[in-house]
Amino acid sequence: TVYAQILAGGKGTRMGNTAMPKQFLPLGKKPILIQTIEKFVLEERFKAILVVCPVDWLTHTQDLVHKYVTDQRVVVITGGAERNDTLMNGIKYIEENFGLQDDDAVVTHDAVRPFITKRIIDDNIKAVMKYPAVDTVVPAIDTIVRGKDDQVEEIPIRDYMYQGQTPQSFNIKHLKAAFNQLTDQQKAILSDSCKICLLAGEAVHVVRGELANIKITTPYDLKIARAIIETRVNI
Ligand code: CTP
Repeated sequence: TVYAQILAGGKGTRMGNTAMPKQFLPLGKKPILIQTIEKFVLEERFKAILVVCPVDWLTHTQDLVHKYVTDQRVVVITGGAERNDTLMNGIKYIEENFGLQDDDAVVTHDAVRPFITKRIIDDNIKAVMKYPAVDTVVPAIDTIVRGKDDQVEEIPIRDYMYQGQTPQSFNIKHLKAAFNQLTDQQKAILSDSCKICLLAGEAVHVVRGELANIKITTPYDLKIARAIIETRVNI
């Protein structure tokens, strides 16, 4: 069985002073979060589509889903302080409500990446049937420079550098086991869920993302997203 989990539990501090967390801001005719949910609803293989929102925004999120989404598979629940807490809250919900089988998998996606395509979702589902963990990446465009305190420490060969996007997909039992191996300190600093699996010694398979699958993080990203939407019809 495969589940979808849309991570919408963040505060969006890098977006600056907005009336609400960025996932609720309008993009075209609908909130960003709704644009993202609509892409997942198109995929029939998901048994449930969990939307995990901040505790203070539960009613708001439920109202939005009620207004825009008719698909009964969409469930709104609350997230946690860190992205991984949000992720694990979703896993807990799946386990409590549906039980856990060995080959159950979850496709997790940032609520603020509304330009995800059907192809990327499809590739993630196919890959997570075969591999315990799956990351979606694009080749790095800029040269990546690793450094600390105004000092360059390494300039890795660009051909081996990628930028991580989402979805990130996991066999749920493997993910739980990997997460439980971490110390509390590691749990707090690990913002990337695939890294949890890497640290636990799991192989992470790669799926090709898209340049357009941007994460709306800053006001500049929101401008780009709105420009993309304006050139498309009916969204
Ligand atoms: N996210 C989440 N739960 C958290 C933190 C983040 O579900 N505790 C989600 C966000 O809602 C977003 C995705 O993870 O859809 C990517 O998060 P990111 O934009 O990097 O972080 P935010 O906390 O939303 O923003 P910022 O770092 O600017 O505060």
